[in-house]
Formats: sequence, C-alpha cells, structure tokens
Amino acid sequence: MTEAREQFGSRLGFILAAAGSAVGIGNLVGFPVNAAKNGGGAFLLLYAVFVFMICVPVMVAELSVGRHTSKDPLGAYRSLGGGSKGWLLAGWLSVITPFFIGVFYAVITVWILGYLVQAAIGNLDQLADASRFSDFIQSPAVFGYLVVVGIIVFLIIAGGVKNGIERAAKIMMPTLFVFLILLVIFVLTLDNAFAGVAFYVVPDFDKLDAAVVSNALAQAFFSLSLGMGIMITYGSYMDSSSNLPGSARTVAIVDTGVAFAAGLLILPAVFSFNPDVNPDELSTSSVGLIFTFLPKIFLALQDGIGYFGASLVATVFFLLTFFAAITSLVSIIEVPTASLKDERNISRRKAISVIAGMTAVCTALAAMSFGMVDPLTEFVSYAGGPKSLFDVIYDMFYDTILPLNGLLICLFVIYRWKRANFDAELERGNPDYKGTFLERYVNFSLGTFIPVILLLVFINTVALKYFGKAFVG
Ligand code: PHE
Repeated sequence: MTEAREQFGSRLGFILAAAGSAVGIGNLVGFPVNAAKNGGGAFLLLYAVFVFMICVPVMVAELSVGRHTSKDPLGAYRSLGGGSKGWLLAGWLSVITPFFIGVFYAVITVWILGYLVQAAIGNLDQLADASRFSDFIQSPAVFGYLVVVGIIVFLIIAGGVKNGIERAAKIMMPTLFVFLILLVIFVLTLDNAFAGVAFYVVPDFDKLDAAVVSNALAQAFFSLSLGMGIMITYGSYMDSSSNLPGSARTVAIVDTGVAFAAGLLILPAVFSFNPDVNPDELSTSSVGLIFTFLPKIFLALQDGIGYFGASLVATVFFLLTFFAAITSLVSIIEVPTASLKDERNISRRKAISVIAGMTAVCTALAAMSFGMVDPLTEFVSYAGGPKSLFDVIYDMFYDTILPLNGLLICLFVIYRWKRANFDAELERGNPDYKGTFLERYVNFSLGTFIPVILLLVFINTVALKYFGKAFVG
C-alpha cells in the first residue's frame, strides 16, 4: 500500500479501543463467577499477580511487534521472521485464531442482543424462565439478531481505525463505565448485598489448587485479549511517540478494574436474591450465568422496584454487556480484516466485506450447533463424548491455541527479533525506559518463565481436553 498506515487519533483513543477489546463478556461474567468459586480475595490476588507479572509483558511484546513492523500479524511475523516457514506459520495462527474466536464470540453476542431486546420490550418474565434459553437459541430469531450484529460490526470496521474503531470505543466505553457504576451503586443498596461483597473479597486460600491457578491465568490472558493478534494489529496503528509499556499498563488497569466492578455487581445481586446461595452451585459457565441465572435475579427485583424497574435494570445490564461484546468483537474481526487488506493490497471496505461474510456463515453454522441441526450439534466425538461445532471451536482455539500463541510471541520477540531490537522499539516514545527495573523485568520474564508457564498451560490443556487426563492439577 502506498498510502500511510491508518493510526489511532490520540493516546486516549488507543487506550479506549484496546480497553474495548479487553473488556468483554470475560470481565462482566466470567471473572465474577471464577472469583466467587475459587477463593474470593485469594483468586483476586492471584489474578492481579498474573495480570501484571505475566500478561502485561506479553501485551508489551505484541504491541511492540505491531508498531515496529506497522503490519498485521501475518505480515509482522513474516517481516521479522527472516523467511522462516515456522514463524510464518505462527503468523497464520495469529490470524486464524481470532477468526474462530470471533465466531464463537459472535454467537454469544447475538444471544445477548436477543436478550437485550426482549428485556427492553418488557419480556423479562419470559427470560427468567430457564427453559426459554434453549428455545431461544434454537429459534430462527437468532438469524435476525445475527444480521443486526453483523451490520453493526461491519459499519464500525468499515469506518476505519480512527473514524470507526476508535470512535465506537469512545462512545461505548464511557457509556459502559457509567452504567456499570450506576448498577453497582444500585445493587449495593439491596438487602444482603454485603454478604455478597464479603464472599467476593474475603480470601479463602484453601481453595487455591493447581486447577484454580491455571484457570486464573487463562482468564487473565483471555481477558487482556492476548494471543489473538489483536494487540499486534492495534500496535501497528500506534505512532512512535506512544509509550507502549505505559499504555499496556493502563489497559490492564482498566480491564482489571472493570472485572472487579462486575463482581461488585453480580455477587451482591446473587446474594440478595438468595442469601443462602452456595457459590459452588453458581452455573459453571458464563453462558449459563448470563442467560439463565441472571434474568431470574433481575426479575426478583420487581418486589422492590416494580416490573418496570426490574426490566430497566436488566436492560441496562444487557446493554452494557452488549457494548462490551461489540467492542471486543470489532477488535477480533479487525485482525483477519487487516491481514487480508494488507496481504492482498485491497481496500478496507472490500476486506471487511469478505471477512464479515465468512464470519457470518461460520457464526450461523456455530449457532445452529445448539440443537437446530444434528450433524452440527453432534459434530465430532472426543474426550468421552459428542461435541458440537461450537464446542470444537471453543476447545481448539480458546482453550488450546491461545496459550500457544502467547508462547510463540514471547519466543519470537526475545529469540528471533532479539532483545536489543525489542528494547530499542520500547524506547521510542519512552526515552527513559532503558535501564529501568521494568525493562529488566520485561526482558527477563519474556525470555524465561513466561514461556515456560504458557507451555505448561498448553500441555496441560491438551492432556485434559483431548486425552481426559490432567498433567498438572
Ligand atoms: N477480552 C475479551 C473478554 O474478556 C475477550 C475477547 C477479546 C474475546 C476480543 C474476543 C475478542 O471477553
């Protein structure tokens, strides 16, 4: 391309866009459930340690590769990979992974939109009926919502980095923060709310075992949108005056802050609904929590604030979750779009049209794998049971390849691109970086224990997922 690469308009624009990517369904529901079940404050501490000791260095690595090369992940791996086929493969993984994670994420986003609309038009009572969820996900309405989500994502990405992605984040993220704070304040006024808060923050170290530790790391990694090529791509839209370690830290703080606040929303609401709740019985998945458990809790609010009030709270919650999901979905679909655009030298609009079409088809297939179409519902069988197409995508890309991609970027930066070049890139926009503790820490950790830990997570997941045996834990 002869024209200059698109860039974010400002530091705040980048922070909001990257935070928009990071803040997603994982923060709003995955995190609170994980924390509640796995030792409350003990989990929070562990999570914070992982975010700052492991995830921030990996994010810095991704951003620096992107900014240095000004390329999409495939182009970046190619240009710094020195013609090696292996590194090119890593580049391909960084483009294929977001595509498929985008597909599974899109399915959930489509359902959230469905619940948002239903809550807003006064059907909260129906949503609170647990059987409604399986009816809904098998109904043709799903395709209607899919079209709407597709159009929204298409329009944002077609608008470009500054006028599309950044602008959407600048509208949606502050709205999300305000709604989240309002809901937290409201929920904390409910009876028994503080029993929920206590449960959430008081540490129970006995709960920490190998499985919880690995789970906390996976949650942190996913939550910061790592291993998906997103930060490489967003890094390529940053200018040389931005401070990469500083930006990564800010994004991590915002992401963790939102996750923490989401816990202050969900757990008090759960405890106020049922003071005797045993958190081990909270649904095992985020999906179960959003679509079957929470609507019941929202409906129960009608005793205090009436049906209209309860519907309003539910609508605000689904709206903020929808915003969180859309900004994440945009960031993930931007990766294959940027790759197609750069590799083929075509316009952004053409690239997003192709990628949006492919994503829509795969998302429709994945959405039909919940009982609508048998061969997709029982797509393959492994680890002791039939798996749907959705399960396969989830197991393969989210659970397995994500940590592998994280491992590869660490090795790539330190051993292929080399520390001196990496450091020089980080000094651009941060002249005092050299010689700081941060520099030594980032360099040391990325070259030693972070890849080892990610390798262990990867091996463990493969052992557990596909062979039904744990390697650790
Ligand atoms: N960080 C997102 C979350 O916590 C994960 C994600 C990002 C998923 C981008 C898809 C795309 O939900």
